[in-house]
Amino acid sequence: MQNKGLKFFIRTYGCQMNDRDSEALAGLLIEKGFKLVGNVFSADVILINTCSVRKHAEQRVLSFLGTLKGLKKQKNRIIGLIGCMAKNRGEELFKKLSYLDLIIAPSNFDRIPYYLEKITKEKIRIIDLEERKREEFFYHSSFRFDSSSAYVVISTGCSNFCSYCIVPFTRGKLRIRDYHDIIEEIKRNVDMGIKKITLLGQNVNDYVFRISKDKVINFVDLLARIEKIEGIEEIDFITSHPKNTTKDLFFLMASSKKIKKHLHLPFQSGSNKILKLMRRGYTKEKYLELVEEYKKIVKGTISTDVIVGFPYEEEEDFLETEELLKRIKFKYAYIFKYSPRPHTEAFSWPDTVPLEEKEKRHALLLDLQRKISLCEKNS
Ligand code: SAH
Ligand code: SF4
Ligand code: F3S
Repeated sequence: MQNKGLKFFIRTYGCQMNDRDSEALAGLLIEKGFKLVGNVFSADVILINTCSVRKHAEQRVLSFLGTLKGLKKQKNRIIGLIGCMAKNRGEELFKKLSYLDLIIAPSNFDRIPYYLEKITKEKIRIIDLEERKREEFFYHSSFRFDSSSAYVVISTGCSNFCSYCIVPFTRGKLRIRDYHDIIEEIKRNVDMGIKKITLLGQNVNDYVFRISKDKVINFVDLLARIEKIEGIEEIDFITSHPKNTTKDLFFLMASSKKIKKHLHLPFQSGSNKILKLMRRGYTKEKYLELVEEYKKIVKGTISTDVIVGFPYEEEEDFLETEELLKRIKFKYAYIFKYSPRPHTEAFSWPDTVPLEEKEKRHALLLDLQRKISLCEKNS
C-alpha cells in the first residue's frame, strides 16, 4: 500500500457534524496506515473540512487556502478541500486553484482513503460531489479526538429547506442512519470507556426508522432505547426543531437520569411574518407554548439560535425577536447576521437590511444575551 506512513493533517471548520466527520475520517485514514500530525508543515496530506453556512465561514477557508498555496510551493503535498464548501463551490475552485488535488462533498468522505491512494499512484486530481449515502464502515473506527465523550450521527442531510439555509444543498437530503448501527456504535463507545454521548442530526426529530413492516422507531423511541444501554451515563442531542419537537420527548427527558436536561431549540426570529418567510413551520405563539411545556415538564435549561437582518425584517420584527430573548431567558444564544447563500430560496430576494443595521441589531442582541446569560443561574 503506497500510502503507508504518509502524514496527514486535518483542519475543521463548522458544526459538530463536521467535528465528527473529521474524527471518523481521521480514524479511517489511521486504520489504512496514515499518521495524524498536528501541524501543516510536516504533513504530506492536508485536508480542510469546511463550512458554507455563512459567507464568513467560506472566507476563513479561502484565507487558509492562500497560506497552503505557499506551502505547496516549498514541498509537494496533497491538498484536499472537503465538506460543505467543497460541495457548494467545488467545481469553481477545482478549475481556479490548481494546487487543490482533492475536492470531496460530505457524502463521499468514506471514499477519501481510496482517492488518496489513487492520487499518489496516478498523480491525478479528483473531484467527487456526488450525493449519496455513506457506507456504514465510515463510522467504525475506534479513533476519538476526545476519549471522555463522543458524538454519534443519527441522520445526515436535511429536507426541511428553511429559506435561508444552505445545509440541504451541501449535505443533501435527509438520510436516516440504521437504528441497529447507531446502537452498535454507542456500545463500541461504551467498550472504550466513553460514558457521555451527543446524538447529532440537523433536526433530530426527523428521525424515523422502519424496523419492521408494522413498526417504526422515532427519535423518542431511539432515545429511550439508548437510555437503557448499560455504561452510558449522559445523553445529549442536537438540534431540535420547534416544528416537530413533542411533549413525549419532554416526558422522557423528565423521567430520565441520563438525558441531559438541556434543549437547544433555535427560534430564529420572534416575528411571525419573518418565520413564515423563513419557512420554519411554526409561529411565535407555538414556540412560546413549547418552551412553557418544556420548562413545566423538564424544568431544564434552554438555548437557541437567532438570525437578525433577514430580508424584510423591519424594526418592529426585530423588536419582537428582542422581546422573545428577554422573555425566555436562554442559558445561551447564538446570534447570527443573515448571510445570503446560493441555492437557497431567499438568495433571490433582496437583502433589504443594510449591513450597518444588521450589525446594530446583532450587537444589541449580543449585549442583551450576555447580560441574561450572566444573570441566569439556570445551569
Ligand atoms: N439544523 C440546525 C442548525 C443549522 S445551521 C437547525 O435547524 O437549527 C446553524 C444555525 O446557523 C441556524 O440555526 C441558523 O441560526 C444559522 N444560519 C443558517 N443559515 C444562515 C444564513 N444564511 N445566515 C445566517 N445564519 C444562518
Ligand atoms: Fe437548515 Fe432548516 Fe435544515 Fe436546520 S432545519 S439544517 S436551518 S434547512
Ligand atoms: Fe455544518 Fe456548516 Fe455544513 S454548519 S452542516 S459544516 S454548512
